[in-house]
Formats: sequence, structure tokens, C-alpha cells
Amino acid sequence: MGKKILVLATSFLDTLITHPPEEGKAKQMLERLKLESGGEIEIIYRCERKPEEPLSVEEFKDVTCVIADLEKYSRDFLSQVGIKRGGSLELIARYGIGYSSVDIRAATEFGVMVTNCPGCNALPTAEWAHSTILDIAGRRILHHQRASRGKGKEGPSRLDVSGKSLGVIGTGTIGRLVVKLMKGYEMRVIAYDPYPDREWAKENGVVYVPLKKLCQTADIITSHAACSETIIGEEEIKLMHPTTVLVNCARGILVDYKAAFYAVKEGRIWGYGVDEIWPKNLSLEGLNIIVSPHVGSDTDRGKLGMQLMSTQAVVDFMQGKVPQYLVNKEVLGK
Ligand SMILES: NC(=O)c1ccc[n+]([C@@H]2O[C@H](COP(=O)([O-])OP(=O)(O)OC[C@H]3O[C@@H](n4cnc5c(N)ncnc54)[C@H](O)[C@@H]3O)[C@@H](O)[C@H]2O)c1
Repeated sequence: MGKKILVLATSFLDTLITHPPEEGKAKQMLERLKLESGGEIEIIYRCERKPEEPLSVEEFKDVTCVIADLEKYSRDFLSQVGIKRGGSLELIARYGIGYSSVDIRAATEFGVMVTNCPGCNALPTAEWAHSTILDIAGRRILHHQRASRGKGKEGPSRLDVSGKSLGVIGTGTIGRLVVKLMKGYEMRVIAYDPYPDREWAKENGVVYVPLKKLCQTADIITSHAACSETIIGEEEIKLMHPTTVLVNCARGILVDYKAAFYAVKEGRIWGYGVDEIWPKNLSLEGLNIIVSPHVGSDTDRGKLGMQLMSTQAVVDFMQGKVPQYLVNKEVLGK
């Protein structure tokens, strides 16, 4: 029986804007695998599939490896498709950094390796957080709306970013890059992370503080935590000030969007920027809230990084090697 490699990553086959030399290389790597297998390996591209649609066991029939978008790999699903349970799935190569869409314990239990692409799209995402901070502080959308309708400014103009204090939640790859990018603004940087890196903090003049203190004292708060629960809720927002800029270019769930919405609407914080699709029922008209459809990493550089790293994991696995960025190393001992 042949093996199937399923590609669900929505931007895997995208035409890149600037046509860098590596464009299409990931697809070529997969096609080479197929060629070298003498037809034993089949590659199935289903990049048009919507990640929010639940997975079905039928679409994973004979699938050995999947290049995975953000679709949910639940315990129940993995118990039906995992190699240790009589299924065929042996590798979930996450197309990106986060892997909260995969039940890692279940994957390990059912013999499925999970890999990710650390750093692959970190700089483009940090760049997006940086620009969102400037746009919220500067009320750019509101100014744009007025000016584009032939009207002058209305309401408060812009906040300074320079010389203010920056509060970074999550000092991993992206959080640190944001600190680096914002250095030119002569900011004081405080940070919260349950796993602080004191050496990095010392080298970069960053002071770790508890989350509540960060919410109370930072002028600009940017969230880069890799977790799947809400960190900034009503309680934390209450600690902020009418001039606090709140930005979340990690995952929407990290900030309670309703709490942020009402805080901006009622003037309790300055503005909110989030890289996530916004619910239609909460109108943003006239509010200093900027949203985007999770495009932080969606540049040519970001896409290439995800394409090449996730494909390399598949190639390594198919060639009998342990993929470099294996998240659940315990699976090897199972
Ligand atoms: N918007 C986008 O397009 C986009 C692109 C890439 C990554 N991301 C998201 O950005 C986030 C950060 O990515 P990264 O590459 O820097 O990850 P990383 O693993 O390098 O760093 C994440 C950091 O978050 C910290 N953390 C974990 N739980 C926390 C908590 N409860 N509170 C505060 N900090 C916590 C970790 O200790 C770690 O230092 C991830 O959630 C990722 O999914 C978004």
C-alpha cells in the first residue's frame, strides 16, 4: 500500500509577491520524494480546505504525513488515525510555530510525531506587531477615515511611542524581536513570562515583573505568549489606563476581545490592535481598534520559512531520520 502526504497548509502553494528564488522549492522537494519512491508516495494538496472545518477520518485514509494548518487534531481524532491505533498517521508537520491545535499528549500516545517551524516567520510577525503598535498609538485608522473623506482631524491626535514604557508578554522569539525593533524609540522595557530568561533580560535592559504590574505600568502592551488561554481579561484591562495601547499579534484568544472592545469604546484604554478576524456583531466604526485576518507571518519571507521547514520535516521523516524540530520527543521512546 502506498503512502500519502497530505498538504493542508492554506498558503503552501501561494504565488509569492516578489518571486524570491526559493519560490516553489518546497513543492519541488515533495515532488522529488514522490519521484524517488517510484510512485509509492502520493502527494495530495488540499490547500483550499478551511482550517476551521472539523477533520474527518476518511480524509486521512492512508495518510502518513500531514503538513498541517490550524485545523484541530483532537484526542478523539488522533485515536482513530494514529499509527499506534491501527491508523496510518505518523507525522503532523505544523506549518508555523504554534502547535496548540494538536493534542500533543494524545499524539505521543498514539505514535504521531509533531514538528513545528521555530523562528520561520518570527521577524515578519514582529514587524506586524511593531507597525500595529505605531498605528494604534497614532490612531491611524481614524485619521485615515477623516482625511480620506476630505475632513480634518477630530478628537485626540497621536500618542508618543518614543520614551514610553513597553510591556512585553511572552519573551520568546517574537517578543524578543519586538524588543529589538522598538529599541530605537528609547523605551523602558518590562516583561512578563512564566519562564523568564534573566540573562537575556540583563543583556537587553529588560525588567521582568508580574503580569498585574505590567498591566498597571506599561504604556504600550504587546502580547507574544505561546499559550492557548486568555491572559488579558476584564480584570487585567481594569488595571490599564486611558492611554494604554494594547496589541495582540499572537493568538486572538490571549486577550478577551469583548473586554478590550468595551474598554476602548468607553475610553478606558487608548486602543486595541489584534491580528485576528473580528466578530461581525461588534462594530468597530469610530473606534481605535485595528484588526487583521492573522496575516502577521503572511509575507513572502514568512511563507517561505513555513513551507521549507515543514517540508523538510516530512522529507526527513520519509528518509528515516528524526525531524529536527520534533515537539514531542517522548514519542521516540514509545
Ligand atoms: N500573527 C501571526 O501570524 C503569528 C505568526 C507566528 C506566531 N504567532 C504566535 O506568536 C506567539 C509567539 O510565538 P514565538 O515564536 O515567539 O513563540 P516562542 O515559543 O518562541 O515564545 C513564546 C513565549 O511565550 C511564553 N509563554 C507561555 N505561556 C505564557 C503565558 N501564559 N504568559 C506569558 N508568556 C507565556 C513562553 O515562555 C515563551 O517565552 C505564538 O502564540 C504564535 O502562535 C502568530
